[in-house]
Amino acid sequence: MTLRSAQWYAGENRNAYIHRAWMRRGIPTEGFERPQIAIANTASDLTPCNAHLTEVARSVANGVYEAGGIPLELPVVSLGETNVRPTAMLWRNMAAMATEEMLRANPIDGVVLLGGCDKTIPSLLMAAASVDLPAVVVPGGPMLTGTFRGVTLACGTDVWRLSEEVRAGTLSQTDFTRSESSMIRSRGHCNTMGTASTMALVAEALGTVVPGVAGTPAPDSRLLEAAHGTGRLAVELITEDRRPSTFLTKANFANAIVALAAIGGSTNAVVHLLAIAGRLGVELTLDDFDRIGSRVPVLVDLLPAGRYLMDDFHRAGGLLAVLREVRDLLDPDALTVTGKPLVDYLDDAPIWDPDVIHPREAPLVAQGGIAVLRGNLAPSGALIKPAAASPHLLRHRGRAVVFDSIEDFHARVDDPDLDVDADSVLVLRGCGPRGYPGMPEVSNMPLPQKLLAQGVRDMVRVCDGRMSGTAYGTVVLHVAPEAAAGGPLALVRTGDFIVLDVEARRLDLDVPADELARRVPNEATVAGFAAPKRGWERLYVDHVLQADTGADLDFLVGSSGSEVSRESH
Ligand code: FES
Ligand code: MG
Repeated sequence: MTLRSAQWYAGENRNAYIHRAWMRRGIPTEGFERPQIAIANTASDLTPCNAHLTEVARSVANGVYEAGGIPLELPVVSLGETNVRPTAMLWRNMAAMATEEMLRANPIDGVVLLGGCDKTIPSLLMAAASVDLPAVVVPGGPMLTGTFRGVTLACGTDVWRLSEEVRAGTLSQTDFTRSESSMIRSRGHCNTMGTASTMALVAEALGTVVPGVAGTPAPDSRLLEAAHGTGRLAVELITEDRRPSTFLTKANFANAIVALAAIGGSTNAVVHLLAIAGRLGVELTLDDFDRIGSRVPVLVDLLPAGRYLMDDFHRAGGLLAVLREVRDLLDPDALTVTGKPLVDYLDDAPIWDPDVIHPREAPLVAQGGIAVLRGNLAPSGALIKPAAASPHLLRHRGRAVVFDSIEDFHARVDDPDLDVDADSVLVLRGCGPRGYPGMPEVSNMPLPQKLLAQGVRDMVRVCDGRMSGTAYGTVVLHVAPEAAAGGPLALVRTGDFIVLDVEARRLDLDVPADELARRVPNEATVAGFAAPKRGWERLYVDHVLQADTGADLDFLVGSSGSEVSRESH
């Protein structure tokens, strides 16, 4: 077998001399004839959820050496969800593009991908699919459960609860601040079923993680053992020539969708899976999520919707225990990165705690998943998570109260004179991938103060943005096309009636077609759309695709493989 890296290192000519000489660093000459394994590392002090990955990388490197390869750490663009403004999603495609190009440009034969925080695993998988080199993911794992004054704290979710307690006078400002280190008790990513946990588990169901590894807590020594084993596997992938395009098929995505529904995972996984499929040329559509996912029961009782956290999930049996319960819904032909089918890992996967992972006979929600809506307000589709919505609002007709931007929303939502009642439909536009580059997590708009005071706890909300994996409510999101891309959402006027019918999978604006055809977006609406002049943001708005196909950039869809024909000297 000829290694890809031999194009740099083999031979006696001047260029081979240059490539080897600078890379020697004590490596014996025959080291240049061994598989060169990059460890694409998203560790960064500014991505605290991934900061521990450098230690994980050492275990991967040990495994690579042991199996006869040469490990090479490659720091790649890292995205810390809580720090990066305006939204980490703006940089997912950039991280994917930069990682893809650096993997292709360098003398490597395969790669181990280290990610954790929300956008990091998606960007790494998009990169690996487009460069199509042998690749395997090690998810960095969730943090341990923290407690404060005897009470469990859930990352993110409980920040809102504690800050409300301060406002109510039941928690002092000093204790509020003291609780910070209890909430983020250890290394690792958020421990609720938010986007990071969801994407780690979904990546495993997809077949890109060694089965049984995703969900291992970040400080757990078993994570280092898994990293070591994955390093060994990476070398084997080269001998087998197992690349993303050789085993990731539609069947793998079907299994990922089943897992997403059974764990009650984040709606963000939809855009990420669509984008990854787009890189692979797998024909995955929005409707596949509804068709495959909406009859799957939710089995996992995790916050924010449920009670437990990720280390409970891991001790209860983890993803394999969940998948064993829904084994009949999985595609038995889908192979994993190990070369074996996913279903082969399910024979010995018991549930150790049925409070955390429910057996199939006693699901948390009989039918979970994500419903895809269409209608004259969302010709290309919109999403709703029925299990997170209020049953009485799943069929609803209400008057629109329209906001042109998140700033417009904040300025007016609590105005006591705002003409809004519990039956109104809150519409927020200008938050799609192009209108608000990165498509921020604003769709679960907070309800007007005056309605909260009346005891209203949920309303129908419609938006072209995303929402946090930790949010819930009767929220119609990812409306496509978005307002800024010519979608009819731009034409809604306050007072129009909107009709939602989740059972019928419809979202319609009750305005006659001829009147709708005459309407144009008003000035305030257009003023709410971003118009960046230069830089990445400019490139992004000029090329970003809509949410229904994964919000990738048009010129990044697909794969270029790993060939580089021209030399650098
Ligand atoms: Fe990194 Fe939540 S902030 S996973
Ligand atoms: Mg998040």
